[in-house]
Formats: sequence, C-alpha cells, structure tokens
Amino acid sequence: AAMDSGSARSELDTQEYEETLEARLGKSREMMRVVLNKAKSDPKRVALAEGTDEKMIRAAYQIQEQGIAYPVLIGGEDEIRQTAENLGLDFEPEVADPQNGDWDHYADRLYELRRRKGLTKNEAHELVRRDTNYFASVMVEQDDADAMLTGLTHHYPSALRPPLQVVGTADDAEYAAGVYMLTFKNRVVFCADTTVNLAPDSDVLAEITKHTAELARRFNIEPRAAMLSYSNFGSVTNEGTRKPRDAVKLLHDDAEVDFPVDGEMQADTAVVEDILQGTYEFSDLEDPANVLVFPNLEAGNIGYKLLQRLGGAEAIGPMLVGMGKPVHVLQRGDEVKDIVNLAGVAVVDAQNE
Ligand code: ACO
Repeated sequence: AAMDSGSARSELDTQEYEETLEARLGKSREMMRVVLNKAKSDPKRVALAEGTDEKMIRAAYQIQEQGIAYPVLIGGEDEIRQTAENLGLDFEPEVADPQNGDWDHYADRLYELRRRKGLTKNEAHELVRRDTNYFASVMVEQDDADAMLTGLTHHYPSALRPPLQVVGTADDAEYAAGVYMLTFKNRVVFCADTTVNLAPDSDVLAEITKHTAELARRFNIEPRAAMLSYSNFGSVTNEGTRKPRDAVKLLHDDAEVDFPVDGEMQADTAVVEDILQGTYEFSDLEDPANVLVFPNLEAGNIGYKLLQRLGGAEAIGPMLVGMGKPVHVLQRGDEVKDIVNLAGVAVVDAQNE
C-alpha cells in the first residue's frame, strides 16, 4: 500500500510538473510569438557571421522558410552550399563570401574607422577577408544588412569586440549590455546586465535600466524596474550599495523615464508583492518588478543562470541593448531555436531603427 500511495503521489507530481512545464513553455512561446509575428510583418536582412556553421545553416533555413528574416550567410560559398545539401536542406541561401568577390570597400571602411586606433591598411584587408565577425560588422555598419548574429564558435568577449569596435553604440547610448528574458509559469522577468559590463557605475546602471525597459516594451510588457543589491533602501551603506542607489536617483531625475523604478533593494523585495506593499509601501513599485538590474556582472551572470537552471525558467537571450545597430552575440552551445529567436528579436530591433 505504501508503494501504491508513493507511486500515486509521484504520478501526481509528474502531472503537476508537466502542467507547470506546459504553462511555462506556453508563456515563453507566447512571448516569442509576439516577437516573431512582428518580425514576419516586415522581415529584414540578418547577417549570420558564422555562415559555415551547421547550426547557423539550419537556423538560416528556418528563418527563411518561416519568413522571419532574409538570412545572409557569411563564409566560403562552396562549403556553405555543400553543407546545406548534406543536411538535406532544400534552399538557396544568400551567401557573402569574404574570400571571393571585391570587398575592398569594406576593408577601406574598416581602415577609415580604425586607423586612429592603430589598425593598418593591410590589417584591415586581412580582417575583412579572414575574420567573418569583422566582415559582418562592416556589412551592418554599411547598411548592407540590417542586423547581425554571431558568437556560436567564439568566446563571448572575442565575438563581441568586432561589433563594439565597428558598429559601436547607439546615438543615445554609451554602453552595450546583455539582457536575458526569463519566463516562469506566471511571470516574465528581464535580467540585466548578464554579459557585458564588469563593474558598472551608477550612470551605467541607469542607462542599462532604460534600455532594458525599452526592450521589455518590444515584447509588449510594461516595465517595472528594480535596482538590485544586498541592501534595502539604505539599510547598508558602502560603495557597492551606493551605486544602485545613485542610479535610482539619476532615473528619478530623468524626465524621459516613464516607468516605475526603485531601489536599491534585495532580490526578494523586488519580486515579492507582500514585501513591497508591506515593509516598503513607500516604494515606487506597487507590483513586483519585471526588469531586474544587477549591481555587477558576477551577480547578473550567476543570477540568471540560477533562475534558469534551478528556478526552471525558459531563457531567451542574451539580447544586446544599446548597440548602434541590432547585433546579438550568441553563447557557444546555443541551439538552432535560440538562433531563430534572436534573429526575430534582431528584426524587430531593425524595424524600430
Ligand atoms: N559598451 C559599449 N562599448 C564598449 C563597452 C561597453 N560596455 N566596453 C568596451 N567598449 C568598446 C570600447 O569603447 C572599445 O571601442 P574603441 O576601440 O572604438 O575605443 C571597444 O569596445 C573595445 O574595447 P576594449 O577596451 O579594447 O575591449 P575590452 O577588452 O574592454 O572588451 C568587453 C570589452 C569584451 C565587453 C569586456 O568588457 C568583457 O570581456 N566583458 C565581459 C564579457 C564576458 O566575459 N561576459 C560573461 C560571459 S558571457 C555569457 O555568459 C553569455
């Protein structure tokens, strides 16, 4: 009997687990559907810097078939076409082959942009021919493509550097930042910065918050931002807790900020309604925050990974915000679906250019 009741319980648990999973996946699919439908309404050209990579080619096929974007695969044309054929993918993708064709104008542009940063003319020609991250960055900078994805085959910082050097930040931005959207059963949170700025000052935190709030609106989510710390509204004062506190002041003084933001606060304060409405009823946040801004890269990177792996969230990202053009740097090991999703996000970014 004990065994029976045990197995009944575990069946129930399984059922509950599956329902939760279904709800969560449902939520995350719903979020992505909003973005992918927006993308399909006006698809843009997306340069895939790692065009010879099998996953990129599979993603390009799906992106094109579903009408999300016009993919441009960067890399050796013969290799790309042969790989597509071997994979049994029946499509004729657009390919830009840096080793074939006249790309001198890209090298000249790269030289113009970087000659006062120590780059020689020869090096510029070498980079455009041999490094598809530079090629794709110049292609996007020159408006020959509307957006770019890279990162599958590189360490994150080395994939990020060429677009930072060539495309740079938007006119209203000084800092790029990486955002993950995490979907749970009943809520969605945007975590920033999870990938770029090691030790952001208060002005960097404030900028990251504004860009992440804008991103949330692309997903039809009204942002409510919390500046996270291990201190609640001045309960501990030192250099570490002062930065998020000062960032909140900057945002409260900024006439452009049209969403609630507060802090510094502990993570549980940010996401638990009872704490916000009880102990901290004076806070600008009445409802739990959905934009979580971490005080530094360690906290942000560790925090989103724990939420994803132990909290069971579906993660979409990292989405780069603050760039001059839509550029997203994938993580090594990302799946085809991650590439397709980020292509959708990039197209929606490009539509807003
Ligand atoms: N925002 C915008 N531009 C920036 C930023 C920033 N936060 N940081 C540097 N840049 C620009 C610089 O201004 C410079 O431009 P310039 O050459 O035209 O003057 C260019 O980028 C290169 O800057 P460097 O100082 O040469 O590069 P640095 O070595 O500082 O690299 C980088 C910048 C790659 C962002 C670095 O800060 C870094 O490694 N960050 C952490 C990345 C990381 O490891 N993430 C966690 C793992 S990723 C994951 O889990 C998915």
